[in-house]
Amino acid sequence: MSEIITVKAPVNIAVIKYWGKRDENLILPLNDSVSGTLDTDVMCAMTSVCARPDITENEIWLNGSRTTFDNPRLKKCLGAIKSLAASQKSVSDEFLTWNVRICSENNFPTAAGLASSAAGYACLVCALAKLYKVTGDVSSIARLGSGSACRSVYGGFVQWKAGVRSDGSDSVAVQVVDSKHWPEMRVLILVVADTKKHVSSKKGMKISAETSELMQHRIKHSVPRRTVEICDAIRERDFETFAEITMKDSNQMHAVVQDSYPPSVYMTDISHRITRMIHTYNDMQGSPKVAYTFDAGPNACLYLLEENVPEVLCLVKQMFPSSSNNFVTGLPLPKKMPSKVDFPMEPFGTDLLKNVIYTKIGDGPQVVKDDHLLDQQGRPKRYV
Ligand code: DP6
Repeated sequence: MSEIITVKAPVNIAVIKYWGKRDENLILPLNDSVSGTLDTDVMCAMTSVCARPDITENEIWLNGSRTTFDNPRLKKCLGAIKSLAASQKSVSDEFLTWNVRICSENNFPTAAGLASSAAGYACLVCALAKLYKVTGDVSSIARLGSGSACRSVYGGFVQWKAGVRSDGSDSVAVQVVDSKHWPEMRVLILVVADTKKHVSSKKGMKISAETSELMQHRIKHSVPRRTVEICDAIRERDFETFAEITMKDSNQMHAVVQDSYPPSVYMTDISHRITRMIHTYNDMQGSPKVAYTFDAGPNACLYLLEENVPEVLCLVKQMFPSSSNNFVTGLPLPKKMPSKVDFPMEPFGTDLLKNVIYTKIGDGPQVVKDDHLLDQQGRPKRYV
């Protein structure tokens, strides 16, 4: 019987967006993308796995509930790790016949549109890789779970190379710089109070790939240039260039979403108020000090340098008053915070934001010792 393997894996937030697939089945993207990997101490997925001869069928628990294993993406990830293990002869033939039990949790709300599938699949694949003792890059296997998951396999800033081969063997994630390269980089996630159900990114990007003319311009011209420029800006720690490209690329992804037929909308009125607030702030500063980016939902992710956190946090609180006494969570707050920012806009309204998560760039997946979600018999500790 196997030991229990537990891994925690990070969320990543793209600054050059992945939007559109050239192969739905292998999850191959139409364009390169680039992201920052966020600190697992603030937000992470955690997954325990084991394989045993006495488990009669593969089983999975997700955030407390037993879920069906009959999910093609999940099966593909397990199948790919097992065939790699078979070709590397990393475990015995008998071990490969045993079923697995998987228990996975996110320490942040799954449905909040906060890249939970990326962290979840990266975590699952890294835990399975360890269980089956496979070596080498597993980002292309994480990609089979959810495209953006391949970027959560590494820390720091990461590029997912779209690749050109039809078998997807060159569609992998590579690290641009590690988490120590730009130690001042911080992230504020503004979680918008929103109950609207948005079109899934899977469906939304399919419609865009099939119908948007702007998408063609994006993948041929904008993204190739921006990818080179933003990777250089990251290597040179050039925040102004980094910020401008990040905002333009988010705006373009959402323009593509609007240019799709039928169109979708992920950003809400509150999201647009956030962008207006950031542009006004950057104009006041004379150069971009904060960059916003939005995924397939209304939440804003702000990239900024540590020196600007006190003022920007104060500004967010001033413009989005909250009745919550747990409004900002995550990293310890700066010791010195201004009490007011001179700002030419009136506050927007109370409780438009649910909360703010303060975090930074962090490392890739890590093995966790002695804190498993499965007990020694391989049963979920907290659920039945
Ligand atoms: C808007 O990775 O969730 O967050 O590959 O279909 O699982 P699938 O999509 P997913 O798409 C994420 C898209 C995005 C932009 C990004 O993270 O690059």
